[in-house]
Amino acid sequence: MDNKTTMTLAVFGLGHVGLPTALGFADLGWNVIGVESDKIKAESIANGYVPFNEDGVEFLLRTHLRSKKFSVITDTKVAVEQANILFMCVATPSDENGSANISQLENLAFQLRDSISSYKIIIQKSTAPVNTAEKIRNILLEANLKNEIQSNEKLVDVVVIPEFLREGKAVDDFFNPHRIVIGLDDMNLKETIVELYRPLLKKIKKDESSTLVFMDTRSAEISKHAANAFLATKLSFINMISDLCAKVGANVDSVSRAIGMDPRIGADFLQAGIGYGGECLPKDLSAFIESGKDNGINFSMLEEVKKVNEDRVNVFIAKVLNHLDNLQDKTLAVWGLSFKPFTDDLRNSQSIKILHNLVAQKIKLRVYDPYAMDATKKLFKISDSITFAESPMDAAQSSNAILILTEWPQFSEQDFAKVFSVMKTPLIFDGRNMLNFDVLIANGFKYYGMGIG
Ligand code: UDX
Repeated sequence: MDNKTTMTLAVFGLGHVGLPTALGFADLGWNVIGVESDKIKAESIANGYVPFNEDGVEFLLRTHLRSKKFSVITDTKVAVEQANILFMCVATPSDENGSANISQLENLAFQLRDSISSYKIIIQKSTAPVNTAEKIRNILLEANLKNEIQSNEKLVDVVVIPEFLREGKAVDDFFNPHRIVIGLDDMNLKETIVELYRPLLKKIKKDESSTLVFMDTRSAEISKHAANAFLATKLSFINMISDLCAKVGANVDSVSRAIGMDPRIGADFLQAGIGYGGECLPKDLSAFIESGKDNGINFSMLEEVKKVNEDRVNVFIAKVLNHLDNLQDKTLAVWGLSFKPFTDDLRNSQSIKILHNLVAQKIKLRVYDPYAMDATKKLFKISDSITFAESPMDAAQSSNAILILTEWPQFSEQDFAKVFSVMKTPLIFDGRNMLNFDVLIANGFKYYGMGIG
């Protein structure tokens, strides 16, 4: 593609990755077409409504529907005709054995193949195992045959640019990336990709070499899985240490601080607790383990990482049972349901796993979450022993203990003298080690964290 050609972008799949990405590029000045096959979702987005919780996305959406930098359609063919850079942002869910199911990517590749009649750059953004880009390329190359173009005339190039956006912080992460990984198998494409990111580099006042990391497509695919597997490893490592701390009466938060101050280790992702959840870390870790197996590599270390995380739920429940006998006649307050703060996403939420376990034991629960009440109501039956509370204080009302399962900042800002006064027994099990021990003890509570005594 001639760099001077105006680039029009099409983003296929307007979910947690696609929509913030599309709007981010629109905000940088590109013309972006969002393509969403789900008609109801597409209509809602076209009317300015975001079908999920993500700070800042609705504002960008309304701004760029008005500026006409962003539009939404459902027709792949029309988008392919109008755009020259096509982003694949469809889901790659887990198969039953944990491997990544890339069928949505493959189906999209078939649709693109049938619509392409002039040169396009295809950017694979969906997280997928190593060699997926090659599979996509092989499907797309058939476009040459269909158009009766000699195979040496390239109709498509496939580039891998994995996403590292965090849920709840996607807009922030788009505009402030730690790095942008770009997998290319043809270095002639480099200039065009740099042009694509030029407005962002200008906005964040960074140069190309400190932000854009070029490599081959396989290395880019592995980089994404390796990044999430490493984050999961860090979390399971500190959670394993927290078990030792709990056993011997040490404090894992002190250990985290001590080791995190070494820049070779780093302080982030060392907060011990009931473990990680969400759509990405668990799914990508499992897919990476399967990818290792597929290639005959021993990834058993990552299997342990996964196991430590799964065990967190049992470790936490055992702690609660250990300190409260005869749970059947008790009521437990639950603070936090989403897999992490600032989202209503319950996918792989450790909190929801704990809830299912306690509900199966018919234990009475009063639950509260700032965002995720509606989503949680859909998961449980009316007959289940759950009451949905209106605030953290309401959940604590007449309860025998509070279980803190998501690290929402407002939980630590409660008036604990008042919380003490409304509870039957002043017990707190802090699954996220987020409360101030001294404040709680001063208010008469018994406090149990994860790996802090
Ligand atoms: C993750 C990656 O961070 C992101 O780069 C990738 O693109 C998608 O996957 P996300 O799923 O939004 O992002 O969650 P993240 O913010 O990474 O948190 C994951 C889980 O780890 C949460 O359940 C959180 O509560 C837990 N966590 C995080 C801890 O238990 N301790 C910590 O110190 C940090």
